[in-house]
Amino acid sequence: MSIKGPSSFDIIGNREKAVAIVEIQKEMSRYRKRIAAAVMKQHKNVKTVLEKGTPRKGVYRIRDYKILAGDQNTEVVHIESGCHFLLDPKKVYFSQREGTERLRIASSVKNNETVMIFFAGVGTFPIIISKKADAEKIIGIEINPDAVDYFKKNIQMNKCLNIEIVEGDVSKKAAEYSNLCDRILMPLPEKALDYLAAALDCAKSGAFIHIYLFAAEDEVKNKKAQIRNIAKKAGKKISFVRKTNVLPYGPGIWKMRLDIKVI
Ligand SMILES: C[S@@+](CC[C@H](N)C(=O)[O-])C[C@H]1O[C@@H](n2cnc3c(N)ncnc32)[C@H](O)[C@@H]1O
Repeated sequence: MSIKGPSSFDIIGNREKAVAIVEIQKEMSRYRKRIAAAVMKQHKNVKTVLEKGTPRKGVYRIRDYKILAGDQNTEVVHIESGCHFLLDPKKVYFSQREGTERLRIASSVKNNETVMIFFAGVGTFPIIISKKADAEKIIGIEINPDAVDYFKKNIQMNKCLNIEIVEGDVSKKAAEYSNLCDRILMPLPEKALDYLAAALDCAKSGAFIHIYLFAAEDEVKNKKAQIRNIAKKAGKKISFVRKTNVLPYGPGIWKMRLDIKVI
């Protein structure tokens, strides 16, 4: 009997040890163990197959997973753009689908900038920017203690000297960087607008803010109006520079990035 594979399927890790994350359609769920065995047979580096149990949830944006096959230990070193990221997908957010976007942002960073990354996770944006651009200083704020631990280890592993880690809530910690940053990244699409005032406060005159949102094309006008409103209340003048559709998120919905210049 032929078995249709999982509807989507990611591999995180490297050639020695990786974890496969599968999403199995309901009608295929009775074959889940066989699907997992097939994935491990085809990809010898996959030591564990995890099935997505829930959508990403909570403040830390992580899912519940079920181990379908293999080891309990799901910590891996993922390699992206020549950088190494130690992480456990059960404990922290990570998406290798965003690697191209990280490179795009790194290529827009100019020499000697101070770059602030809200919601820094295990340090993906800070480390890629540190390695691919010539920033003066990169600050990453992250609230999940497990992500912060990995972030610290990843900085050491990649020998980055210009990154400062701040553990805690952006809404409390960002104020220490008032008017100090040339570029602010906001990779938390569900809630980024809630933190825009904090980003505007960090921004020097002439700074860029990269805000990520989930939206349909016909919602962009409304999102921009909300952003203008927040900027007005913060007493900041802004202009919209660019909109980029980063990844499809759902039917008609994009994870998109709006680039804003603070005047
Ligand atoms: C969508 S993930 C992005 C992680 C990382 N930038 C990446 O691309 O891999 C959002 C991250 O923000 C963190 N987070 C959520 N709310 C936060 C807050 N108020 N302050 C600091 N970090 C927060 C979560 O723990 C999570 O690691």
